[in-house]
Amino acid sequence: MIRLDRFLCEMNEGTRSEVKKLISKGLVEVNGEAVSDPGKKVDPDKDCIFVGGRHIAYAEFEYFMLNKPAGVISASRADLRSKAEICVVDLISDKKRKDLFPIGRLDKDTEGLLLITNDGRLAHDLLSPKKHVDKQYLAELDIPLTEEGRKRIEEGVDIGDDKPTLPCRISFNSKNSILITIHEGRFHQIKRMLLTEGCTVTYLKRLSMGSLRLDPELKKGESRRLTGEELSMLRSGK
Ligand code: URA
Repeated sequence: MIRLDRFLCEMNEGTRSEVKKLISKGLVEVNGEAVSDPGKKVDPDKDCIFVGGRHIAYAEFEYFMLNKPAGVISASRADLRSKAEICVVDLISDKKRKDLFPIGRLDKDTEGLLLITNDGRLAHDLLSPKKHVDKQYLAELDIPLTEEGRKRIEEGVDIGDDKPTLPCRISFNSKNSILITIHEGRFHQIKRMLLTEGCTVTYLKRLSMGSLRLDPELKKGESRRLTGEELSMLRSGK
């Protein structure tokens, strides 16, 4: 059971004071009766809650894949230092919940697959260093990576952290672009790995995370809900 005002806030019906106003105006009904107490306890799974005649469906967890465009910060609204900045959660237009966050971070200038959810457990599982979830990226480089450089990076390189990077896989996509699959998520990891060979990453896009591939139908900045199949594959670690 949760407070009615909290339920409405979580379902993105407004701020706490905005939903309190809706309630005091008699616009909120629970099981067919107008309610005046914002603290009334409701069971979101059983009670029928309407605002201005609109049914408010309960979503405990939401899962979206976003094709992140460059220029947007991988953070939730609450994490932003300045309200003027745009974060990835702002790009999810049909969200119900207010507590969404990205699973992991992509640099501001990196594009591609980002999972947005409020499921902390899934986030923990996907980010856990023990699980070594594969992340595949397309990286464009200012100069070609040599064959010897590819082998060195694949074996693991010193990028100035406590430990060298774990082994990864690299294939050449064209002269100046590679596909690289890593299992970790260190800060600027791919850019730093390639710099050990003197290559600057000029463009970076994440293509997949675990079993989940970026939907090619999604244009930059677009998102969609995960399908049930995608979610169960992610959960089972396939
Ligand atoms: N590696 C990077 O350098 N940047 C990213 O955004 C992701 C991986």
